[in-house]
Amino acid sequence: MLRLDKFKKYPLTFGPTAIEHLPRLTAALGAKVQIYAKRDDCNSGLAMGGNKLRKLEYIVPDAISSNADTLVSIGGVQSNHTRMVAATAAKIGMKCVVVQESWVPHEDAVYDRVGNILLTRLMGADSRIVPDGFDIGIRKSWEDAIQSVKDAGGKPYGIPAGASVHKYGGLGYVGFAEEVRAQEAQMGIKFDYIVVCVVTGSTQAGMIVGFAADDRADRVIGIDASGTPAQTRTQVREIVDQTAELVELGRKVRDDEIVILDDYAYPAYGVPSNETNEAIRLAARTEAMITDPVYEGKSMQGMIDLVRKGYFPEGSKVLYAHLGGAPALNGYSYTYRNG
Ligand SMILES: Cc1ncc(COP(=O)(O)O)c(C=O)c1O
Repeated sequence: MLRLDKFKKYPLTFGPTAIEHLPRLTAALGAKVQIYAKRDDCNSGLAMGGNKLRKLEYIVPDAISSNADTLVSIGGVQSNHTRMVAATAAKIGMKCVVVQESWVPHEDAVYDRVGNILLTRLMGADSRIVPDGFDIGIRKSWEDAIQSVKDAGGKPYGIPAGASVHKYGGLGYVGFAEEVRAQEAQMGIKFDYIVVCVVTGSTQAGMIVGFAADDRADRVIGIDASGTPAQTRTQVREIVDQTAELVELGRKVRDDEIVILDDYAYPAYGVPSNETNEAIRLAARTEAMITDPVYEGKSMQGMIDLVRKGYFPEGSKVLYAHLGGAPALNGYSYTYRNG
């Protein structure tokens, strides 16, 4: 039994997310494995939702008890995470400062005005675009923003990129594993694999700890979308250890239980390959399931390729964790101008 219940949780989501079978995508891939999706992209009424809200549910109580008045976070210009922090701040009545680094070389004229950043600004966050490039670690631009809130007499509460390198960052996705186990019991089936996009690491790390409880952490297949997989792996390892300790897993997760495939992030973070775009179109045209060019399009591409290659034994049930991210598509209107 994992001890998740001892942590305070502030509700930001609707509750357990739907699991649905994807029959037309399954058929399009040859029907040798059955494909399902868990729809964390539809998890909340807050500004289109997504994976960060599961993490933030365990972080908000700490922010409130610290007496902060401003959430300060960081991501790229089209960051889903900063949108979710802005939404959370609005919902709990705090101010919000978000640093938006220039992580992606983009070709769209409106890239910095639509999608995630538009919603972030609409919710009243102070969104600051800076020129620094992609990096999932702790950033000086974020520390400077925290200091600027202090200098102005405010009380900042810092949330790092992806809410990952935060002491409670991994807890939300331990909860995901608990939820899947309960849904499996209700549905009378068991998933053989879970496919998940990984960049800053706490989503997969939480799942790994959660599924380690019934000894299937190695069935969580992380698809790297960072393009810096060594750094992502190190970060996942650290979050796994810290989270396992918090929920009292009672053993160390082995390195071979952390599975991250790095074949699909090319050509770079935030830049879709032709194969990513084909995957996005296939999911959209078979299931009307919308994935984005930065994150879910790459994990969709990875899952499709793995199914075609026979990575999953025949008859497997594969659960695709849909983590959100569709608003970023607006920043790629030129790429998808013909569909
Ligand atoms: C839509 C989406 N999918 C996947 C991820 C990757 O999750 P994580 O950063 O926890 O590895 C993110 C955030 O980075 C995201 O916004």
